[in-house]
Amino acid sequence: MPTTVEPHATGVLERYKALLPVTDATPLITLGEGATPLVRSARLEAEVGCEALYFKLESCNPTGSFKDRGMVVAVAKAMEQGAKAVMCASTGNTSASAAAYAARCGLDVYVIVPHGNIAEGKLAQAVAHGARIIAIEGSFDDALRLAREITDRYPIALVNSVNPHRIEGQKTASFEIVDVLGDAPDILCLPVGNAGNITAYWKGFVEYYQQEQATKKPMMWGFQASGAAPIVSGEPVPEPKTLATAIRIGNPASWQGATDARDASGGAITAVTDAEILIAYRRLAQDEGIFCEPASAACVAGLMTRANSEDVAGKTVVCVITGSGLKDPERAMAEFAPELQPVAPELSLVEQEMGLQ
Ligand code: F0G
Repeated sequence: MPTTVEPHATGVLERYKALLPVTDATPLITLGEGATPLVRSARLEAEVGCEALYFKLESCNPTGSFKDRGMVVAVAKAMEQGAKAVMCASTGNTSASAAAYAARCGLDVYVIVPHGNIAEGKLAQAVAHGARIIAIEGSFDDALRLAREITDRYPIALVNSVNPHRIEGQKTASFEIVDVLGDAPDILCLPVGNAGNITAYWKGFVEYYQQEQATKKPMMWGFQASGAAPIVSGEPVPEPKTLATAIRIGNPASWQGATDARDASGGAITAVTDAEILIAYRRLAQDEGIFCEPASAACVAGLMTRANSEDVAGKTVVCVITGSGLKDPERAMAEFAPELQPVAPELSLVEQEMGLQ
């Protein structure tokens, strides 16, 4: 274990304060984020053909996504600077996380979301935490533009990943992976939307390498949905489309950070189709016991596709499971649920339903 890290401390701020912009005036708030499991693959590893495949279960964070790592830092810094309100644009998870931390810290919270394109579980979280929700007839990209304009005009802190404190918090996931594996993996796979997370992971791996906590840095393999793949095509997508609503983004704010991570790591950012995402979503649920949201499955879909053409033999690979399947129950029901026909509470009928007769 690196000496700078306090493994038993609660929360990202406390645990990684030496590696974060934490001052004596920063409130060490927490909802217990970070320290998420790194779980080895049960079945897909052999199929992919790599030496070892792990899933970093960021879905185990307090609000069910990786956003909490960055949000705890962004909200703490906003409080340190005297903010009374925070705001974000979101495809769902950022709003759920902002709402939770704001509620805990007694701040007002405003979220702008693309109407009709945010999974129900995420909206439920934001509503439950008392966020003021503004639904727009537009995309995430429109929502982010508006959130920037509003926070320029009013004393409200912007907590999207354009806020550098978000990136700082999210880089701690890289530290955890290295701490658990004893070194950096060879390949890190993750879904790319607004591109803050790939930027943050890369920053974390580079910092740990520079501090000699790791002997290498991973190749960064990012994946966008084919209907929302501006970084892959090299130009913004005016009307992004994908069932993976979390990454339905046409003009990522951290575009440069993503291409820097890709190029400096010798990695790649490629596209996966919605059909490939759904296959990975099903395989994760039914072969690995991991229920994630479709956006998270995109990186596993991408790994499975790229492993056909790239040599992954002998490589240690980590796929980041960015958000919980519980966020998007409608997708799960649409994908997996048979029409349920209730039967009378009789043994023979239950046996019949179970296929035992
Ligand atoms: N996976 C999930 C589950 C997400 O919610 C997001 C982004 C990503 C991957 C992509 O991460 O944007 O850093 O490249 N969700 C944002 C939101 C946009 O508003 O919740 P990114």
